[in-house]
Amino acid sequence: MTVYNFCAGPAMLPPAVMEKAQAEFINWQGLGVSVMEISHRSKPFLKLAEECEASLRRLMNISDEFEVLFMHGGGRGHFSAVPLNLHLDSAPGVYVENGIWSVGATKEGAKFTQVESVDIRTDKDGQFDILPVSEWSLPQNASFIHYCPNETIDGIEIFEVPKHPTAPIVADMSSMILSREINVDDFDLIYAGAQKKYWSFWFKYRNYSQDVIRKRRPAKACNFRLCHRSKAK
Ligand SMILES: Cc1ncc(COP(=O)(O)O)c(C=O)c1O
Repeated sequence: MTVYNFCAGPAMLPPAVMEKAQAEFINWQGLGVSVMEISHRSKPFLKLAEECEASLRRLMNISDEFEVLFMHGGGRGHFSAVPLNLHLDSAPGVYVENGIWSVGATKEGAKFTQVESVDIRTDKDGQFDILPVSEWSLPQNASFIHYCPNETIDGIEIFEVPKHPTAPIVADMSSMILSREINVDDFDLIYAGAQKKYWSFWFKYRNYSQDVIRKRRPAKACNFRLCHRSKAK
């Protein structure tokens, strides 16, 4: 019997992919060792990482304007990394709230910067609903706009993308990345994780030499410092 997992986040993988991984697990690319056992700085592993990035760029149509970073720290690590890299002293981080994870991001953000939350949950004819983007009260003065297009636990998906005249748009795509086509250019920073449990995240942001990053003080912790992690540093 085949078991299907329809949950948001960790999802089914093509059997052919898993069978290939299984076959190569003990002896990867004829090296006589597993990919898990070789150095993370060795040429074969770095080539794998490069191919992985190229595949992701192709699949999501990510332009060179964006860096793609594979990072540790899980979703909550990025709740910290966003304000640590994007906050401005003169403007709050604006957090759109529509469920458990977006509220969690606000709470974490408040440890590092001033925050302003925008609750988009509402009631329509006695039914739970969320406001359309045109009715979100986003303040003009904002260091970034953070929102969660798919609230995993609450089961709420937002299909529109907010816009802001000055603040970068940041999206927690932890439980919807690659589930549907998106226009990466509508965002300034996206984070998400592969099948959740591998703890590595993709951090994409418009090239930091742009005004958005230059005006900000990057995080001090080197693993969370986007400029440090970027090849363009
Ligand atoms: C939308 C969303 N954001 C953040 C997280 C937190 O991720 P982590 O458990 O890796 O810290 C989750 C976890 O399931 C999630 O679904």
